[in-house]
Amino acid sequence: MQRKVIITADGSKTIHLVEWNEHYHSIHGAIQEANHVFIKHGLLFFVEENDLISHTPGVLRDLGKKKYYDVSNNQISILEIGFGTGLNAFMTLLEAQKINLGIEYTGVEAFPITSEELAAMNYPDQLDTNKTMEFERIHQVPWDEKQTITSLFSLTKQKKFFKDIEDIEKFNLIYFDAFGARVQPELWTEAIFEKMYTSLRPNGVLVTYSAKGSVRRAMSAVGFEVEKLPGPPGKREMLRARKGF
Ligand SMILES: C[S@@+](CC[C@H](N)C(=O)[O-])C[C@H]1O[C@@H](n2cnc3c(N)ncnc32)[C@H](O)[C@@H]1O
Repeated sequence: MQRKVIITADGSKTIHLVEWNEHYHSIHGAIQEANHVFIKHGLLFFVEENDLISHTPGVLRDLGKKKYYDVSNNQISILEIGFGTGLNAFMTLLEAQKINLGIEYTGVEAFPITSEELAAMNYPDQLDTNKTMEFERIHQVPWDEKQTITSLFSLTKQKKFFKDIEDIEKFNLIYFDAFGARVQPELWTEAIFEKMYTSLRPNGVLVTYSAKGSVRRAMSAVGFEVEKLPGPPGKREMLRARKGF
């Protein structure tokens, strides 16, 4: 399939799949979308709701939830559905530093981007960060091994299909960032969301940019409590799904 690197409305780049007319990120702004859907309504929501940011730097407040977070190691675990360009992973690494929270990040991807596509991405510049080496390392580290990227961010990139995810109660948060249901309807089904539900720990949260009725119904059918939230620029709504205790 023909692939083109393009610039989105906020200046950050993405990849366009020409035949599908589908993009890795919103054309209204790749960074803005990642920030809104995954960082603000995913990571920061989870952190705030669970009171995970301590007033004493480096120590999570233990609210009797040891079972759900790795309080001893001061960290939460995140699963990303569709590692792609590494933008969500990189922005999460930067956020971990800002809020002083340890993050164990797993990114699943069956079709890694090419080195030419990677070289064309402009995320550290657009995010105005000097952590270019960390962005490069995210891509250089081998697949299917847990790697330390910073003292607060470890990464396991898993090269496999989403249908082969078999984790049980492993993650606190899921960034569900597959291509849209228009082009890959098989990834937005009860069967996949059942896997997501099983892989989450109690009180876990899943966020996605999609707000389709069929997606919402598939999530509810497997047990999620689903809410609609305002979407990022250019998109009316998004979904956040929660697994109860
Ligand atoms: C919307 S893009 C992800 C964008 C990514 N989160 C980022 O920050 O760049 C969807 C990704 O899912 C991958 N993908 C598509 N079908 C898949 C499948 N069945 N199993 C695993 N990965 C798949 C694609 O290769 C693509 O990288």
